[in-house]
Amino acid sequence: MACSSSLLAAVAASPLLASTSPTIKRYQPSILSDEQGKPLRANSLKPLTNYLFHYPFVATPCLLIDMGRDVGGVGKRRSIVAFSAICSHKLAYPAKEVAFIRFQEKASKHSEAERIHCCADHSVYDPSAGAKVVAGPAPAPLAAIALGYDPKTDQLRAMGTAGVEQFDAFFAKYDFKLAMEYGGKARQEAAANTRLQELSLYCRNVAQC
Ligand code: FES
Repeated sequence: MACSSSLLAAVAASPLLASTSPTIKRYQPSILSDEQGKPLRANSLKPLTNYLFHYPFVATPCLLIDMGRDVGGVGKRRSIVAFSAICSHKLAYPAKEVAFIRFQEKASKHSEAERIHCCADHSVYDPSAGAKVVAGPAPAPLAAIALGYDPKTDQLRAMGTAGVEQFDAFFAKYDFKLAMEYGGKARQEAAANTRLQELSLYCRNVAQC
């Protein structure tokens, strides 16, 4: 039952869910895995670092961050959170060519420190508070990814979403591009194992702003 209690903790930080019990839309669970396809150990994560995985569909990117302190997430310190990386403003997302939306550890002209910041139009989200919008034109928080954590194995798994999804709009907007990249399988649900890697290894250019 450790997984289910951690799952609730993972989404409890969302302001959308704070006053009610978390409403999780469940998808096929997927274990977060390393480059070799082995289940990743949570204690191998570097704090305040951008990690990327694709969930709940093979083409929908998510950011995972170990905030290094208790933010109501999962893991031994309840420090690990994950959010869909599709900006709720105009759907910028981390693609292989470039990532405009990413976590930034340090403050910049347009953002405080430790925020998810979309450089496209400077929407800023707070990952320690359910990715609520703290600046910019974004109309809604990023959808939270519900994570399960097994303290015995130190493994993480994605299990669903909570909050406002952007998936339908994302697939409509990028239909042609995704069809070219995924051969018509972009909306296939993520497999039982999903690769987690540093964003800088996936994206050739990570925007700075
Ligand atoms: S698309 Fe992200 S701020 Fe406009």
